Amino acid sequence: MARSQTASRWTLLLSLVVLIACIVVPGLAVKHENFKTCEQSGFCKRNRALADNASAQGASWSSPYELDPATIHFKDGQLTGMLIKTTATNEKIRLPLTVSFLESGAARVLVDEEKRMKGDIEVRHGSKVNKKRYDEAEKWVVVGGLEISKSATLNAQTKTGFTNILYGPNDNFQAIIRHAPFEVDFQRDGETHVQVNHQGLLNMEHWRPKVEGQEGESEEDESTWWEETFGGNTDSKPRGPESVGLDVTFPGYTHVFGIPEHADSLSLRETRGGDGNHENPYRMYNSDVFEYELNSPMTLYGSIPFMQAHRKGSTVGVFWLNAAETWVDIVKKAGSSNPLSMSAHSKKDTQTHWFSEAGRIDLFVFLGPTPQDISKTYGQLTGYTQLPQHFAIAYHQCRWNYVTDEDVKEVDAKFDKYQIPYDVIWLDLEYTDDRKYFTWDPLTFPNPKGMQEKLDESERKLVVLIDPHIKNKDNFYVSQELTSKGLAVLNKDGEIYDGWCWPGSSNWVDCFNPAALPWWNSLHKYDKFKGSMPNLFIWNDMNEPSVFNGPETTMPKDNMHYGDWEHRDVHNVNGITLVNATYQAMLERKKGEVRRPFILTRSYYAGAQRMSAMWTGDNQATWDHLAISLPMVLNNGIAGFPFAGADVGGFFHNPDKELLSRWYQAGIWYPFFRAHAHIDTRRREPYLISEPHRTIISQAIRLRYQLLPAWYTAFHEASVNGTPIVYPQYYLFPDDEQGFTIDDQLYLGKTGLLAKPVVKENTFTTDIYIADDEKYYDYFDFTVYQGAGQRHTVPAPEDKVPLLMQGGHIIPRRDRPRRSSALMKWDPYTFVITLNKDGEADGSIYVDDGETFEYERGAYIHRQFHFRDSTLTSENLGIKGAKTAEYLKTMAGVTVERVIVVDPPTEWKDKSSVTVIEDGAKAGSTASLEYYEQQDGKAAYAVVKSPNVSIGKTWRIEF
Ligand code: NOJ
Repeated sequence: MARSQTASRWTLLLSLVVLIACIVVPGLAVKHENFKTCEQSGFCKRNRALADNASAQGASWSSPYELDPATIHFKDGQLTGMLIKTTATNEKIRLPLTVSFLESGAARVLVDEEKRMKGDIEVRHGSKVNKKRYDEAEKWVVVGGLEISKSATLNAQTKTGFTNILYGPNDNFQAIIRHAPFEVDFQRDGETHVQVNHQGLLNMEHWRPKVEGQEGESEEDESTWWEETFGGNTDSKPRGPESVGLDVTFPGYTHVFGIPEHADSLSLRETRGGDGNHENPYRMYNSDVFEYELNSPMTLYGSIPFMQAHRKGSTVGVFWLNAAETWVDIVKKAGSSNPLSMSAHSKKDTQTHWFSEAGRIDLFVFLGPTPQDISKTYGQLTGYTQLPQHFAIAYHQCRWNYVTDEDVKEVDAKFDKYQIPYDVIWLDLEYTDDRKYFTWDPLTFPNPKGMQEKLDESERKLVVLIDPHIKNKDNFYVSQELTSKGLAVLNKDGEIYDGWCWPGSSNWVDCFNPAALPWWNSLHKYDKFKGSMPNLFIWNDMNEPSVFNGPETTMPKDNMHYGDWEHRDVHNVNGITLVNATYQAMLERKKGEVRRPFILTRSYYAGAQRMSAMWTGDNQATWDHLAISLPMVLNNGIAGFPFAGADVGGFFHNPDKELLSRWYQAGIWYPFFRAHAHIDTRRREPYLISEPHRTIISQAIRLRYQLLPAWYTAFHEASVNGTPIVYPQYYLFPDDEQGFTIDDQLYLGKTGLLAKPVVKENTFTTDIYIADDEKYYDYFDFTVYQGAGQRHTVPAPEDKVPLLMQGGHIIPRRDRPRRSSALMKWDPYTFVITLNKDGEADGSIYVDDGETFEYERGAYIHRQFHFRDSTLTSENLGIKGAKTAEYLKTMAGVTVERVIVVDPPTEWKDKSSVTVIEDGAKAGSTASLEYYEQQDGKAAYAVVKSPNVSIGKTWRIEF
């Protein structure tokens, strides 16, 4: 009795401890058991085993792949030939190889398998699956840049056993193709930068028949060739093993970036274990990872298999175009190149090893030499960032859920009452009738039109959630149409696949099917999606796809899509096929109403940047999650999809006021700036937060609004050059080795604005790293910081966003606070000029209607500003189009109301006016100038009031 009493007391105590631990520790942990490690993934394990075997054999390892010299053919910038793989049993497998040299300077290495191409294989279980290796990823991803170079030539001075091709600008690139064992080295200016199959890990798992009763007789591990079970689900693998693998070495490169999406540092880590390294490769298999963990190579919602390798003075890159599950191992080894380097930073070779479960080897190689070159060339292939509607770059207010249409109107009114600007309010899942998309809950949203009309009074927008799973219900017309038209994803037996998601039993629209597009399109029309208005836009969530009862929370790999492709083949592009369908649908919801769609997607792949914005999914209200959001957003920019953000405030849990305020101060630097919160969290709209935090948050949002002209200009730059929108340190200072790993500070476009958000609790100063010897000025009080290669301590009290301006820039902004960004459309501009060491500065602005595609017909303003020899000039960068004159007319009254010059020459003390000369005018007018003396480490500044020059015109201001 006594014993049992003690025991129960212990149990009670233990339960209390557990309970307290649960309360105290806010962070949740991912359920590791739901997601495969490499060891648990058959093809990952096999490819790693190959790498281990090669490394164990060292110099005696030789890749069993040879390029048959008799088959080599080079014509018009393209080399073709037959790669022969010799198996352990001396079988010869024929693998057609194409190496294309592109006009853009990129090269493309493509390897397929002859037998599968010809359909000369047998599939098991009577499956109807396509016998080819998936060759349609390009269709969803690549939009240009494939023109073959006419000037690529065979290099006559080639050793026997090699075929060398000269290509690229001025023929300064060379591909050195070794026949046996097969290897391609890519050189720029005679130096090797990228080596393909240098480690000999090329692997094409060729088709072979399953011989019943003979399992285990070969030397290879066949245990996962024909079937694979994980978490209670068995994958039937009708085509047997078919993975592809390849190593890519970057000699002399210590840093690699890219391959989102991972919650990890910007500079990617090694993945073969050891101190500070990962144990698993970086995985790319778009998944709904509940309560994801940080500093991890685990997969997340999106994938872009594009990597940049960087070292002082050179950036190169590769893009692995494969839509199947993919893993990347990274190992850094003491470099073979440059052994005598005197650099303090020892050079290493970064060896990467890529493998995918299915598909072809399709590798693009970019030789730079600058990060900008890589962004441009990669963007030519996969498309540039869509220039979004202007509202989309302002502040978005979301939560799961605003519960009624009256609730939405109240939130809207409260923002106005507290004078906090916002542009978009969002409706999550619960606005629907019983989780049936394209409907409204009749009880809670009886008047959606009235709600949208109210928002429209201040030109605000509504975004609603539309997911790809359709509630499986007989009397739901969307479900009926989906099934009767044969547009749903099928299971391996050819029946409509049924899985579990928000609505319960659901079917999935198969957007690979061309017939799904007009149908999806029809659902978005005003007469079908009743109650929706022109100021409604779309959020595509759960499009990995997330399936609650599916293996690894997604679809079985042997599900079937249009074209008889298995889900295995297409998984990673699945998300963007939905976004593509929604994009087409939103382009023209009513005849003649053509506008830029705005779509937020959770799942993505290369190319998503053409159609959507992304966010980093279900993060948590912790300081660590706030901190990791910066490298995650930066990394997306490096990978060509910069319209990125994280849920401000954290999705799970309740942030305290300090964390929430700091998150807003960081969130204003996300290209996609949205607050969002889980249904179980407390309300946290900025106006609900008590002072002083309400003001702190409002000021942060206002700072975003003030700088919207600079943001829109940065978006425009991304839309034509593929650049990030917020830049990491190495991207702007590619020669400064100290900056390569810095991923907690960022630059807004080319404006010279350098922000370093505070991401630690109780922290009231921050150290900002400055790479060059220009002066940097505090944005708010012009305190000067100078000293290259050093960290400078900047005060960061709770109400301050640490923000510097580099000398040498002209920053456009709009200083009049308004309720929404649309209401700022006709407001005048302020320019802030920070002079560089030579007393000069440059800047630019891009402006258009922020809504339509009329800019394609010249309806835009693009100006370049220079400050030289005491004169500020505005020059046209635009090209005249049919709509230019008309647009300029509408903008004629939009002027510059103020010019602030930071750190002007001291002679200006005695000036009281400047001369303003608009183009065409014979005589100038004058505007007043006021000079403010420097004090306590703060730079002097001068203000020109009301020069009133038109933003769209050519003019100069003489100081
Ligand atoms: C998952 C998304 O990540 C989250 O943002 C959203 O609130 C829920 N789905 C509910 O729709």
